[in-house]
Amino acid sequence: MRIAVDGPVGSGKTTVALKLAQKLGFDFLSTGLMYRYVGLLAECKCKGVENLECLQRLVKGLDFQLQGDRLLVCGESIGSEVRSERAGELASKVAVLPEVRRVLTEHQRRLSKGRNIVIEGRDIGTVVLPDAEVKIFLVATAEERAKRKYEEMKAAGLEVSYEEILKQIKERDQRDATREIAPLKPADDACIVDTTGKSVDQVVEEILRLLEERRVG
Ligand code: DC
Repeated sequence: MRIAVDGPVGSGKTTVALKLAQKLGFDFLSTGLMYRYVGLLAECKCKGVENLECLQRLVKGLDFQLQGDRLLVCGESIGSEVRSERAGELASKVAVLPEVRRVLTEHQRRLSKGRNIVIEGRDIGTVVLPDAEVKIFLVATAEERAKRKYEEMKAAGLEVSYEEILKQIKERDQRDATREIAPLKPADDACIVDTTGKSVDQVVEEILRLLEERRVG
């Protein structure tokens, strides 16, 4: 069974999808990590995300593998630097490039083949696995998502402004939802789950209930 979990930045996708995979004993793939990795690589090897020729060469040489919930690239675990805000920004920029999307989509399809897996991203239910057995689309208000990010960053000891985070979230939503290829949107047959005001456990329980209803139905 393949469970696709999509949604905008800060909707809780990664935390919810990982917990769901653990509860079900499924493998887990966060496709955002791949875009983040390519974004950082573009900055360090191609001096930015604008050098398309360099980027295309670079992305073609990548070899991703999945061990349980661990994503490996060329045999090595992806480091924690991909989780930075900077990596998120760069990811959103390389994610508009057709060749990057084409190559990463191929990897995502290959990695999810023949597995029980929870796979999370922006376009899993619409483009990567339109035939996924279950599709979940998480939503939450921009204000709630900004509040979560703000609290997370403050807890990590970072000096941040709530207003600035809210602005960045709105900009990222706009870029992800209006890009030409694979824009962020729910698949027609996705279950929309609103996470506003809910804990991770509550959302996971809600999804498990949905799965149970489906199984019974
Ligand atoms: O989910 P995330 O914050 O790790 O994703 C970082 C960026 O990568 C996000 O702004 C959009 C892009 N992305 C994408 O376009 N398609 C995906 N399947 C996953 C991420």
